[in-house]
Amino acid sequence: MGLLVLTVIVGGFFGDEGKGKVAAYLALASSYNYAVRTGSINAGHTVTFNGRVYRLRTISAGFVNKNTKLLIPPGALIKLDVFFREIEELNVRNRIYVDPNTGVIEDLHVLRERSDPVLNAIGSTFQGVGAATADRVLRRLKVARDFAELRDFLLDVPLVVNEALSRGEKVLIEGTQGTFLSLYHGTYPYVTSRETTASGVLSEVGVGPRRVDNVLVVFKAYVTRVGEGPLEGELGVSEIEKLGWVERGSVTGRLRRAAPFNFKLAERAVMLNSATCLAITKIDALFPNSRSVRSWDKLPREAKAWIEEVEVRLKRPVVLIGTGERVEDMVDRSRDLGVEL
Ligand code: IMP
Ligand code: MG
Repeated sequence: MGLLVLTVIVGGFFGDEGKGKVAAYLALASSYNYAVRTGSINAGHTVTFNGRVYRLRTISAGFVNKNTKLLIPPGALIKLDVFFREIEELNVRNRIYVDPNTGVIEDLHVLRERSDPVLNAIGSTFQGVGAATADRVLRRLKVARDFAELRDFLLDVPLVVNEALSRGEKVLIEGTQGTFLSLYHGTYPYVTSRETTASGVLSEVGVGPRRVDNVLVVFKAYVTRVGEGPLEGELGVSEIEKLGWVERGSVTGRLRRAAPFNFKLAERAVMLNSATCLAITKIDALFPNSRSVRSWDKLPREAKAWIEEVEVRLKRPVVLIGTGERVEDMVDRSRDLGVEL
């Protein structure tokens, strides 16, 4: 057992499912050697660890494990100010690497987006990611190797990842955003500027699909969406408040729209990602008496019944269940269910 362990984490709804927390938990609990953060700075991953709240836009949530090396792949996009700020905040200078071909967002991209009528209509985060991606497609975007200040961080990320897997080391790929923000499979044009499903994430890193052991799709116990676009079953603000589902975007601070868990979307996300297993976060929002519970036995009966319904309807094991903000607030059933994470 355990010769290759490559786990890909992706969001099953519209982002903000709690992928950051799941990645942080796995990096710690399952000792991943490498954590790769895909996507870009429009996606914020929140990690509550050791009494601090981190909002990560560039560096993998796997940073919580000091032995985990942190990689930024060629298909990701960084912005130098955000990159260096996060390095200082997390104190990870000696274990963070960037591929020479990683795209670099500049201020001109942010400026260009602000005056774009389509991006205004869809509720973009205006971080310059779409504009930089367009420049990349037109072969005019600068990449990491063009910047002297990145020289010490450069590393051939696809090579390192594939060789690590061949040695039997463990690699965690942290997807960003959610399945239905996908440029191809989402609610176009109300989507982001990249392919957010497992295949797209793998292509950003440079690993083929045959190497993947676990495609872990993360769902929150309810659906949220920031920005415009369809949201089936959307609740009014007062209902959201009553349910205690009030959330704000971690990059933009905008109030997140919310709706109950959507099985139809979840089934499609399972299909689009070839999910092998699932994580459900914020179960305590549906069943407050499950808050901070860390074992399956101690979960309230109603919460267990709901999780079992999810498993029956989605035909995949729910291996991780989030019960609170802290990274350690997690029910980990992977061993009991025979899933090697
Ligand atoms: P953009 O990718 O910043 O242009 O935003 C396009 C749409 O995707 C907007 O509705 C954003 O709110 C949404 N979006 C982009 N990144 C994220 C994310 O990480 N979480 C949730 N929504 C996102
Ligand atoms: Mg987020």
